[in-house]
Amino acid sequence: MGEILKVDNLTKRFDGLLANDRISLTVSEGEVVGLIGPNGAGKTTLFNCIAGYHSVNQGNVFFKGKNITNLAPERVCREGIARTFQLVKVFNEMTVLENVMTGAFLRTRNRRRAEDKALEVLEFIGLYDKRTLWAETLTLPDKKMVEVARALASEPTLLLLDEALAGLSGAEVNQAVELISKVAKKGMALLVVEHVMEVVMPISDKVVVLDHGAKVAEDKPEAVTNDPRVIEAYLGMKYAAKHRTN
Ligand SMILES: Nc1ncnc2c1ncn2[C@@H]1O[C@H](COP(=O)(O)OP(=O)(O)O)[C@@H](O)[C@H]1O
Ligand SMILES: [Mg+2]
Repeated sequence: MGEILKVDNLTKRFDGLLANDRISLTVSEGEVVGLIGPNGAGKTTLFNCIAGYHSVNQGNVFFKGKNITNLAPERVCREGIARTFQLVKVFNEMTVLENVMTGAFLRTRNRRRAEDKALEVLEFIGLYDKRTLWAETLTLPDKKMVEVARALASEPTLLLLDEALAGLSGAEVNQAVELISKVAKKGMALLVVEHVMEVVMPISDKVVVLDHGAKVAEDKPEAVTNDPRVIEAYLGMKYAAKHRTN
């Protein structure tokens, strides 16, 4: 599997606060990488740096070998990186279909083609029946799925999900996990920020752990779960005890 995303020594400061401290990581084609860490660890900041919403202070982001550091969000998206937002940003005054079409318009100016693409994605994601509803009438889980659909409609090769599953019920989480697997099977790579450990571990090929802005681990899910530094930083003894294999 070829490497498509390479974050190299990335540093982001907010005034005196070191939100991302020399972070390096890679994502390969079709790989699902979980990005975990306690609140305030710097996960969303890293997404924002990769996707061009923040300028970085130091370091670089390479995508498919091209240096995309500090490109504007739309340029980054055009290169093939799409993202969702931790605080959902659907267009309330648009229908579900129109929301998803805004993603498709990144690749075409033709309204008909954008609509076809959006409908195809809505079908794939299970929101086809809600396509004519105003986005503001949706539940939060459905709004999150509209964001995922909008991201997918821009035909990304790398999808960044920022807590897309937070607030979902057990059954909804299962559906979403299935969806993530389905997306990965299409050959798309995913970088998934998630708080629900039980969700991240089984779907991830690799897990990157941040704590206080720095990377403290990058390994297979089982290895990360048993890493004392990670347990201390984040997981808590309860989770580790429940999942310990040795
Ligand atoms: N736009 C911003 N301006 C100032 N500080 C910020 C900004 N965004 C995030 N931070 C700070 O950076 C740190 C990392 O935040 P964030 O990346 O949102 O963490 P996470 O997503 O892991 O919970 C936190 O201390 C947060 O308060
Ligand atoms: Mg966050």
